[in-house]
Amino acid sequence: MAKRIGILTAGSDCPGLNAAIRAVGKTARNSYGMQILGFQDGFQGLVQDRTVSLEGASLSGILAGGGTILGTSRDQPHRMVEKGQVQDMLDTAVANIKKHRLDALVCIGGRETQQSALHLMQKGINVISLPKAIDNIIAGTDLTIGFSTALDIATEAIDRLHSTAYSNHRVILVEILGREAGWLTLGAGIAGGADVIAIPEIPYDAQKIADAVLARNHEGKKYSIIAVAEGALAKETVSFFEHSRKVNESLRSGDEKEKVEETLDQIEDRLTGNAIQLAYRIEHLTGLETRVTILGHLLRGGGPSSADRILATQLGTASVRLVNEGHFGVMVASVSGSIQAVTLEKVAGLSKLVPADHTWIDCARRVGTSLGD
Ligand code: F6P
Repeated sequence: MAKRIGILTAGSDCPGLNAAIRAVGKTARNSYGMQILGFQDGFQGLVQDRTVSLEGASLSGILAGGGTILGTSRDQPHRMVEKGQVQDMLDTAVANIKKHRLDALVCIGGRETQQSALHLMQKGINVISLPKAIDNIIAGTDLTIGFSTALDIATEAIDRLHSTAYSNHRVILVEILGREAGWLTLGAGIAGGADVIAIPEIPYDAQKIADAVLARNHEGKKYSIIAVAEGALAKETVSFFEHSRKVNESLRSGDEKEKVEETLDQIEDRLTGNAIQLAYRIEHLTGLETRVTILGHLLRGGGPSSADRILATQLGTASVRLVNEGHFGVMVASVSGSIQAVTLEKVAGLSKLVPADHTWIDCARRVGTSLGD
């Protein structure tokens, strides 16, 4: 009997999701004679049993399109909000997979999706996941679907900001998505020739950033571009949180300690997007006119780059080959230029941050870019 595959896209959308859906669906049909069924809006649609047929012409004409034809949501099956309450809906998800007699489920998503896929695998479902994230944060893979496109958009934005900053003799801060990982800001900063790059992995000193801008000014370069990751924090902010956590650790215990820790995490999370505040400080410290551009969701809208189309097609086709071989419980990854299957246990819940000794950091410093430290 023909195998049946279910597919969903979960988490925030990004360019390249449709290319991945197309690759999975077409490979399943053309190479293996399998059937394919889509779930709408990620795990929400799986739990609520909202399906969409991917037969016929539905997979044609979608390769270059942005977003996802399946829709998506950030819901996770083990903690879904149902009737106003957070509930574990894993058993319902499993029941729906069985109801549709699916031999495997392909989940395309970010870090949380890898976790959800692992939960389903532990419930006995044959799961395969594909990594997508514009900030390239997923562990176990060098590249995620969506990263290359976002990198191109951010680089073009920096290119365009150069001419206006130069003409008006201004400092322009450009804020780039990436709450925990600075890959996107660092990559676009290097490619676009930003003068300062601030990423979450390297807490910045505002005075050092101002000094870098002033040094350029003294050399006759009357403009500067500062690329700031959404999650980049000042050194003193990082120290404040470290100190608060230590105090909490020494003064409290049990539930109370956990609650304060959770609150600190939430406050720290909400501190992202502080480019405007940093811009005020830079203007104050340098006396130079400063402006801010926040790229935000522009970085994930629109169609995928050619590199993302190729990556999505490689990962998507490989996932169906794995289904055919009966190789489950893995994320299909791009590792050192080859496509590999990495066990979900090795990646679920983990982040891939920019290591201090990464070659991108070294080369940025060598061309004279300040990393704000
Ligand atoms: O986690 C990746 C990320 O791009 C963050 O940089 C950003 O804050 C978030 O997603 C945006 O998510 P949403 O589209 O759900 O607001």
